[in-house]
Amino acid sequence: MQTVTRFNALKRSQQKISMVTCYDFWSAQLVADSGVDSILVGDSLAVVMHGFPSTVHATLELMLPHVAAVARGAGNKIIVADMPFMTASSGLEAGVAAATALIQAGAHVVKIEGASHQVPLIAHLVEAGIPVIGHLGLTPQSVLQLGGHRVQAKSTAAAEALLTQALNLESVGISALVLECVPAKIASRIAQTMACAVIGIGAGVGVDGQVLVLQDLLGANRDFSPKFLRKYADLSQEVVTALNRYHEDVVSADFPSRCESYA
Ligand code: KIV
Repeated sequence: MQTVTRFNALKRSQQKISMVTCYDFWSAQLVADSGVDSILVGDSLAVVMHGFPSTVHATLELMLPHVAAVARGAGNKIIVADMPFMTASSGLEAGVAAATALIQAGAHVVKIEGASHQVPLIAHLVEAGIPVIGHLGLTPQSVLQLGGHRVQAKSTAAAEALLTQALNLESVGISALVLECVPAKIASRIAQTMACAVIGIGAGVGVDGQVLVLQDLLGANRDFSPKFLRKYADLSQEVVTALNRYHEDVVSADFPSRCESYA
């Protein structure tokens, strides 16, 4: 079985880690066929799959069927699941219950957004045998407080505070850290300082790995083009073109042909 300890083995051997989000059985099977190291069932599914304006709308009930579907298709990929909004901030009991449900649905590790106020829960989960990944920098669950999706830790003081937070999380046993939208220099320094793997999104190349939302890297959302995103396909265009070809073939009675019909 793959476990998150592989991230640190990759870091030690100076191999970069690739992670993509994935929310369903179909795409999990495609990721399973690829060389990508790991899958994140991110709470971004609230936005990408359900059309909500932010990740604060992801509930445990919403996420669990996605985690289970991904687990059925993911082969031996390492599956990370996000602890949804407020489940890690409503006391130990609620946090343990949410993490247990995500692990029992098929995740191998849970990801928790936030800094010092998450330390007691992270320490407890790690002691109980549930691996945890931290998430610092831009933490989308705090979007209402942050006032938007902005680059974090731009001042020297904020960068120092971020490093302190990261080391604090490492001291209670996180298996890896996601750093989102942080200047590349700061992210690189944090990755060099920490023993555990640092996986970036919008954090430059000096970290130990990268994570992107699958639909974003496939170009499935025409209107989403942040600076940090590289699109590896133009899926929205290809899908619309294929749908239009199908539509035209149906309307013109070109589809189905004789060989696509039963005698
Ligand atoms: O939910 C998500 O997609 C994430 C990534 C942006 C890291 O947390």
